[in-house]
Amino acid sequence: MADGPVDLALLPMNSVIGDNGELSIAGVNVLELVEKYGTPLFIYDEDELRLRLQEAISAFGPNVAYASKAFLCKAMAELVVEEGLRIDVSTGGEMAVALAGGIDPSKIVFHGNNKSIRELTEAISIGVGTIVVDSFDEIERIKRLAGMLLDSGSQSKSIKILVRVTPGVEAHTHEFIKTGQEDTKFGFSLASGAAMKACEIIKESKEMVLSGIHFHIGSQIFLTGGFLAAVEAIGPLVNSLGVKELVIGGGLGVAYVNGEDQLSIAEWAKEVKKGVVASGISSDVEVTAEPGRSIVAHACITVYQVGTIKKLPGIRNYVAVDGGMSDNPRPVLYGSGYEAFLPREANAQRPMEARLVGKHCETGDILVFEAHLPSDIEVGDFVATPVTGAYGYAMASNYNKVPRPAVVFVSSGVDRLVIRRETTEDLLRLDQ
Ligand SMILES: Cc1ncc(COP(=O)(O)O)c(C=O)c1O
Repeated sequence: MADGPVDLALLPMNSVIGDNGELSIAGVNVLELVEKYGTPLFIYDEDELRLRLQEAISAFGPNVAYASKAFLCKAMAELVVEEGLRIDVSTGGEMAVALAGGIDPSKIVFHGNNKSIRELTEAISIGVGTIVVDSFDEIERIKRLAGMLLDSGSQSKSIKILVRVTPGVEAHTHEFIKTGQEDTKFGFSLASGAAMKACEIIKESKEMVLSGIHFHIGSQIFLTGGFLAAVEAIGPLVNSLGVKELVIGGGLGVAYVNGEDQLSIAEWAKEVKKGVVASGISSDVEVTAEPGRSIVAHACITVYQVGTIKKLPGIRNYVAVDGGMSDNPRPVLYGSGYEAFLPREANAQRPMEARLVGKHCETGDILVFEAHLPSDIEVGDFVATPVTGAYGYAMASNYNKVPRPAVVFVSSGVDRLVIRRETTEDLLRLDQ
């Protein structure tokens, strides 16, 4: 029922609703957290983050990488280190934060469709574990840089390379987050022969070692059909090259709203590995992945404070909060859906229909298009949206000079601030 309570399955793993209706996560009362840190506030259940990282390792083995674009800060990188995964970074910035979190460079998988000379120089100099190449220009750049840097005493002998292949399949997801089709800026086309050509150049080069094939068909994908079609398409290339690693990217979809269903990481791995066997890919090929959203999305809620409520008779109700598209641009970018609820009465019925909007100067500044809320909601209340752990803070901006929110991790009754709230000084620190 849309006007029933928010589905508890959408809340972080250690969520408990007390007898008074108040929500706690990992033994920490959410209302006390917002009292302490203010709003908007991202609250992550640290034990759930760890559990998802462990699940990824159990499903795909120790070479699985966490896709840090979904959410990255030093504390997150530290969890990845502690749980033993590799980390996927797609810019020099993500690489720097991962290193600051203590990642061993050999565990970095460096992605990106347009890596700069500076970024590649840094990556090669520190000895990143793997570079995922995306274009012929980049292959040339790596050869040239490796020739210079490896001669001049860099630690690595030759660079491990994965080739990102576009398998030519359409994933069932939003147009902007589909990446496996022919018409894309990413990777080398399988159909045109570009993928084979890239692999041959790498195999002939003394600076690079072809360690495997990579594909990533998109994000927020619920059906495994796209992954299976990609595996089937890529199988002959993998076999003919005799490579020992196949990376199926990320992309596993997560449930955002009541009634949605999702596969676990284990189920996803099982299905895809079945497809690998069915496609005749040699059994000594290691199949691994780089999940992002499915690790971090569900572990987090964002809490806002209600500033105004406008009831436009015959049109709609607007509930405006103190954040918006600057801390969660997904609704504006992809029309994504979310639930909303009040942490003071987390299991309340939600008969009031409203649009949950932010404080930005855009009509499109929408957090929940068709929110259901308790009818006693009032100005000053705290309202939360669940499943905001992926591509929320990661995509946050300072639009309208709104400071970015704080992020806390909670575990075993203890909260710790992992990213402090920005201040006015932060907003001015680049101005000369
Ligand atoms: C190359 C690559 N790998 C992994 C991911 C992570 O995907 P997701 O967060 O959907 O698991 C992405 C996300 O866009 C990506 O581009």
